Amino acid sequence: MIKDMKDIVSLCKRRGFIFPASDIYGGINGFWDYGPLGTELKNNIRDLWWKAMVLTPPVGPDGQPVQIVGLDSAIIQNPKCWEASGHIGGFNDPMVDCKETKKRYRADHLVAYVISHYMDDDQPELKLIPVFEQNTPEEEILKKFKKLGLGASTENYKVIPFMDIENYHYTNPDNDHGMLHLEEGKSILRLRKDKLVGPDVKIPDTLTEPKQFNLMFHTFVGANATEDDKAYLRPETCAGIFLNFKNIIDTARVKVPFGIAQIGKAFRNEVTPRNFIFRSREFEQMELEWFCEKEDAPQWFEFWVDQRKKWWESIGMDLSKFHFLDVEKADLAHYSDRTIDFEYQFPFAYPDYDELEGIAHRGNFDLTQHQEFSGQKLEYMDPSDNTKRYLPDVIEPSCGLTRAVLGVLSEAYTVDESRPSGVYLNFHPSVAPKKAAILPLTAKEEHVPIATKLYMDLREEFAIDLDVKQNIGKRYARQDEIGTPYCFTVDNQTLEDQTVTVRDRNTMTQERVNMDQVASYLRENLKPAKVMAKKEG
Ligand code: GAP
Repeated sequence: MIKDMKDIVSLCKRRGFIFPASDIYGGINGFWDYGPLGTELKNNIRDLWWKAMVLTPPVGPDGQPVQIVGLDSAIIQNPKCWEASGHIGGFNDPMVDCKETKKRYRADHLVAYVISHYMDDDQPELKLIPVFEQNTPEEEILKKFKKLGLGASTENYKVIPFMDIENYHYTNPDNDHGMLHLEEGKSILRLRKDKLVGPDVKIPDTLTEPKQFNLMFHTFVGANATEDDKAYLRPETCAGIFLNFKNIIDTARVKVPFGIAQIGKAFRNEVTPRNFIFRSREFEQMELEWFCEKEDAPQWFEFWVDQRKKWWESIGMDLSKFHFLDVEKADLAHYSDRTIDFEYQFPFAYPDYDELEGIAHRGNFDLTQHQEFSGQKLEYMDPSDNTKRYLPDVIEPSCGLTRAVLGVLSEAYTVDESRPSGVYLNFHPSVAPKKAAILPLTAKEEHVPIATKLYMDLREEFAIDLDVKQNIGKRYARQDEIGTPYCFTVDNQTLEDQTVTVRDRNTMTQERVNMDQVASYLRENLKPAKVMAKKEG
């Protein structure tokens, strides 16, 4: 069944995962607050990444665990850092404004519908060229065609990227009976920009030329708000790693190859924040910069692609819903020699995919730039060969933490009309905000103290919910919607034989276990191997 983003957003708000930031003031576009359960979910994903990278890093090709150390650098760095990284001056998206509606569009997200031929021999009068945002539904396109008198079908139209309009011309090849064809390059008649009709208007010529738009938020450091005091909120966390490269090799007893990992907030003044938390203006990243020798870089690239696949699987993501995009040379970021994007079938993209994580071979671009701009030597000296000094290459698995939260929520969201909630979150236990709930069957004197004691006994080891209010059906429904794997209920039989019922979230089956066995039951059933076996079986 196709999952609907609207339903996921609404469950997130209803159950306290994610709220619009400044909700009581009508929100602020591109910013989100994580509620009690969203915070725990996000922290779990964050901690699992940190564990997989820093606490128990993977075993390398030589059979030894690889070496990775952590870092927590400042969000605001010396502005020269962003000149060196290419963000000042280069970190832009091309934007188009509509003079009529004052709306702003990403130029590279717009397409133009251009008629592919005219039947007239004579110089044709160029018709209007409607422009749409990518993925505009067909019925909306046809509605607009009708309004503009362009006919009832798009059959004779060619869809071209808005950014390419400059390159398109009409040609009139002699051998083609005077038919005019649209081709790249050769020209008789250039496509006229004043014929373009923007997405939300009926009249032509309201769109501006694409302009570059800097995505970095700025602020002023200190009391004087002059241009000289201008500083930037980091648009990615990796910069702090490169700035500390020398500090770390001088102090942390690391030897190339090794990695530095960092998790933290990043800020981009995205022009079109969209799809819930997918593209927001304040978000979190989990980045590893893996430093290695140039000739070993291709091998480490493959290693990290493989490791990252395993990690996503270990937190319950279904790799069959991933697409691994080897980014074409022309589309690579300015620093990258090769990038593989891990794309996931997010509900808003279905049946397509959108980016969840990128793994890039950054060469030694960053260290070279920072060495040049800072004037400080950043070379690594090989301890086994004092004459060998070099700037190592970098492989960078870079993942959005908040985007991972959306991926995990989307994967877990499961419609099941047979249960009262109609839906449950099938979280892998490792990410579930609550591993179990303790529910006294009634709010009676006898049930509540036993449930509270059980909760107190378990909470040191597991994230446990104690839920006393409402009838038991409603409480099960809530636990299903927040994705709690197990519910333990204290009832009248508990008073007689010290057993409680345990309800499995996915199968809704119940069995009885002894109260003093609850901890070992959880230890056993929350084990990854057990979870995987259940999934397969
Ligand atoms: N250091 C490399 C870098 O930042 P990126 O592809 O721009 O590369 C890496 O970002 C990851 O950060 C993306 O794959 C995505 O998961 C996340 N990300 C980027 N922009 C985001 C945004 N506006 N909102 C949420 N996550 C974002």
